[in-house]
Amino acid sequence: MLQGKHILLGITGGIAAYKICTLIRDFKKVGAEVKVIATPNALNFVTKLTLQNLSQNEVYIEEFDIKNWKPEHISLADWADIMLIAPATANTISKIAQGIADNLLTSVACAFSKKMIIAPAMNVNMWNNDAVQNNLKILQKRGIEILEPESGFLACGYMGKGRLCSLDKIYNAVEETLKYSQKLKGQKVVITAGGTVEEIDPVRYISNYSSGKMGLALAKSAQSMGAEVVFITTKDFDVPFKKVLVKSAQDMQNAINEEFDTANYIIMAAAVADYRVKEFSEQKIKKENNDSITLELVKNPDILADLCKNKTSQTIVGFCAESENLMENAKTKIEKKGCDYLVANDISRKDIGFNSDENEVTILSQDGAIKKISKASKSVIARKIWECISTK
Ligand code: C5P
Repeated sequence: MLQGKHILLGITGGIAAYKICTLIRDFKKVGAEVKVIATPNALNFVTKLTLQNLSQNEVYIEEFDIKNWKPEHISLADWADIMLIAPATANTISKIAQGIADNLLTSVACAFSKKMIIAPAMNVNMWNNDAVQNNLKILQKRGIEILEPESGFLACGYMGKGRLCSLDKIYNAVEETLKYSQKLKGQKVVITAGGTVEEIDPVRYISNYSSGKMGLALAKSAQSMGAEVVFITTKDFDVPFKKVLVKSAQDMQNAINEEFDTANYIIMAAAVADYRVKEFSEQKIKKENNDSITLELVKNPDILADLCKNKTSQTIVGFCAESENLMENAKTKIEKKGCDYLVANDISRKDIGFNSDENEVTILSQDGAIKKISKASKSVIARKIWECISTK
């Protein structure tokens, strides 16, 4: 599984650094490529020569020891399939959480956009420190996986939580991530996001509160799993994959139809307006002559239902946002729309959903299975949605 994979291993200045020598051997034995970045403090616990011999690569320490035209922190980040920091001290964890980039390791971490795993190890009181705990939460929110330390006898003489977790656990987490990173290879994924904009006149429109963040998280997650992503969105996010910017439900339907035949997955995370104005006014509607006005609305196409009627081998996923009777409405909806999965959101809760960075969802499947995903960042929720729908 790890054969030929590029593992970028950050080692910081804690006593558990000596254990990582064995882990490097384990990675090398199965054919992985390992490059080590050590903080200057890490070298108080293990020597550069040891790490160099075990990884069979140069060991990177100083940020301005630049040999190529490309700064080291960028070329190392580009090279890696995964970044693992073990052991991670309270200091390095907190710097990464706050975006501080004051040595090569923290600079690479700041420039790193792929999957990162952090295995902390420290004294129990440092682990329990509020600042450290808050910084760990920040990292988790960004989708970084934290392998919690274990309880036991600590090198500093204390008993408590803070010991580096087992090397097996770290190895398995790396293997699991890299296995997962191939899961959508060769698959084309079309994802819609944001609320559609139905114009009334040149200055006014009907829309909704959808931020597009859930769709964006799903698209990023799909790309990290190796998919070719087409992102059809009403919100102009900066994205490293194909983006089709649309406004109305009709635009969105046309854009999806262009991609439909070659798509393997279609994820309708967009909040599509059910109605549009019957007649768009070319000129701004003036208030002078009108004490009241009536806008006649006509039904938009139900994009999701139409896609499901015409589907061949695509996996089609709908979303539903409900303010009451979430599960009953969701069950009726998956029947009515005919999609393979329906992701149900409870929008009566203020702490999740629209515009929030967090969500909590329930995934219904056409075969009647129901899976609840508890509250987490949208990037974690996206990953779990993919785990659930890509097993088919
Ligand atoms: O019917 P409702 O709007 O609750 O269904 C929500 C799901 O259907 C979402 O996946 C949304 O993207 C999709 N939808 C659609 N076309 C519409 C309305 C909703 O594709 N006109």
